[in-house]
Amino acid sequence: MSQHYKAAITGVAGYVPDYVLTNKELETIVDTTDEWIITRTGIKERHLLKGEEKGTSTMAIPAVKDLLKKTNTAPEEVDLIICATVTPDHQFPATANIISDEVGLVNAFGFDIAAACSGFIYSLVTASKYIESGLYKKVIVVGADKMSSIIDYTDRKTCVIFGDGAGAVMLEPNEEGFGIQDSILKSDGSGKKHLHQKAGGSVKPASHETVDAREHYVYQEGAQVFKAAVTSMASVSREIMTRNQLTADDVAYLAPHQANLRIIEATRRKMGLPEEKVMINIDRYGNTTNGTIPLCLWEWEDKLKKGDNIVISAFGGGFTWGAIYLKWAYNK
Ligand code: UT7
Repeated sequence: MSQHYKAAITGVAGYVPDYVLTNKELETIVDTTDEWIITRTGIKERHLLKGEEKGTSTMAIPAVKDLLKKTNTAPEEVDLIICATVTPDHQFPATANIISDEVGLVNAFGFDIAAACSGFIYSLVTASKYIESGLYKKVIVVGADKMSSIIDYTDRKTCVIFGDGAGAVMLEPNEEGFGIQDSILKSDGSGKKHLHQKAGGSVKPASHETVDAREHYVYQEGAQVFKAAVTSMASVSREIMTRNQLTADDVAYLAPHQANLRIIEATRRKMGLPEEKVMINIDRYGNTTNGTIPLCLWEWEDKLKKGDNIVISAFGGGFTWGAIYLKWAYNK
């Protein structure tokens, strides 16, 4: 075990599809208003992947290709790719394998991690262990979801929230102490009843009845999930600060999962951070599930400086939640 290695993010890339679904257009689809959506969620628009036979990998592939370009990495140098997703292209094979094949990661193995909206942080921590152990030198974590494939566009309670997108990071060993410093990951399976997809798994395989009953879409009891999200995401973000003796002044940025602006606000307040230290793009992308955090890092990359203390936190179905504390490793 080579304890002197930290696992550092050395590059980040993102991809969002072209089509923009605005709140105004949603007003013509379900009984909602631009004002309700903005006030209750902070979302103004979201991007959707349109077209036949296009899936999560359709967005993950360009993100990974761009990541390789930006980090000057040849595809054959990559050791491992982990894809965090709840909307894999297929039940099997893993979407990571599909991405690998398309991008030419001929020496990498890959697998998917499903932990709902916390999948990206679970994957980042998992990936970091392969680096910290000294086993691998280049690991890609891609968070991607085509949420529009499991959203019921007749259900105003869910269809206004979600969007499609992908973001990818490269993890490499760092001997100067930059990179992931600490993480806290949690789950509570009793939360299943409030947020799940009823059919399509082994308990209830697809049938005419499940399709007719619209059971292949996201089922969410918003208020219950909201309550749990506010409490858990805020407290785990505070907890990781406390146990690493970080004050609000020490934290350069919070990169929070983008599920609802009000959840992000509650987390920011609990951490004592000013607004300018919080990465927010929910207004333009909505909740892209596993895409939210890498898309934030991608958009803030220009502002991040070597040595910046960053807290990443998420909450999602499962329930799953957690936080990561990392020291940013490079200036762009
Ligand atoms: O990504 C990780 C996991 N997910 C989350 O973290 C999401 C957490 N939950 C939420 O963000 C919020 O609960 C929602 C945005 C989903 C809903 O907001 P809310 O303030 O909790 O609303 P609610 O579900 O309690 O509904 C309040 C009212 C209801 O009407 P009545 O029963 O009071 O007459 C809803 O029918 O708002 C109504 N409503 C809407 N009205 C207009 C629900 N959705 C809409 C809508 N437009 N799109």
